[in-house]
Amino acid sequence: MKNRQDYYFKKAKEEKYMARSVYKLQEAQKKFNFISSSDFILDVGCTPGSFSQYMLNQILRQGSIVGVDILPCTLKHEKFKFIEGDIKDIDFSDILQNKKLFDVVISDAMPNTTSDKETNHFRSIALCSMIFNSTINILKTDGHFFIKTYDGGDLAEFKKNLMDYFQKVSFFKPKSSRSESREIFIFAYSKKE
Ligand SMILES: C[S@@+](CC[C@H](N)C(=O)[O-])C[C@H]1O[C@@H](n2cnc3c(N)ncnc32)[C@H](O)[C@@H]1O
Repeated sequence: MKNRQDYYFKKAKEEKYMARSVYKLQEAQKKFNFISSSDFILDVGCTPGSFSQYMLNQILRQGSIVGVDILPCTLKHEKFKFIEGDIKDIDFSDILQNKKLFDVVISDAMPNTTSDKETNHFRSIALCSMIFNSTINILKTDGHFFIKTYDGGDLAEFKKNLMDYFQKVSFFKPKSSRSESREIFIFAYSKKE
């Protein structure tokens, strides 16, 4: 397990990615193929920036990204606009004034974790619900939502809520995610009208 972690850590370093998390998004893109070259993406919890780096380097030819994080982000790119702050406090009206709504909302945001897995799960579901509520109205119809959470008792209920808004909702555990971790992603395909 440790070797596997070292493998992704080293790989990220060699490939000049800012974090090993990049491989989780790569795996998800390989499986679901949900990001297209002209997409307008919202990357919630983007710092240090490996998800956005990957999308800018490998996928987005005409598209662009808005990244949001409570912490500063050093990633610089002409197609990447960073906003520092809590997602629930961001006013997107200026950004969306002349633009369409987002094609995809991605969130790798995580709450402050403790040694107690149940606490981490409940905090994570609360954070995911807040992120969903803060972004669902700025995601276009047919757009996709990809979000990280922690497995536990309330996950099924959260998935059920998403099913009211999306055509299909699936769980995804990337190989590059530590197997002992309760981390799991939810892929919500195609927002309903
Ligand atoms: C695991 S890191 C993200 C790594 C990133 N995906 C990458 O590839 O570099 C999680 C981030 O979520 C951010 N975060 C947590 N809660 C947030 C919130 N309410 N609003 C914005 N960012 C948040 C944290 O500050 C942290 O930088």
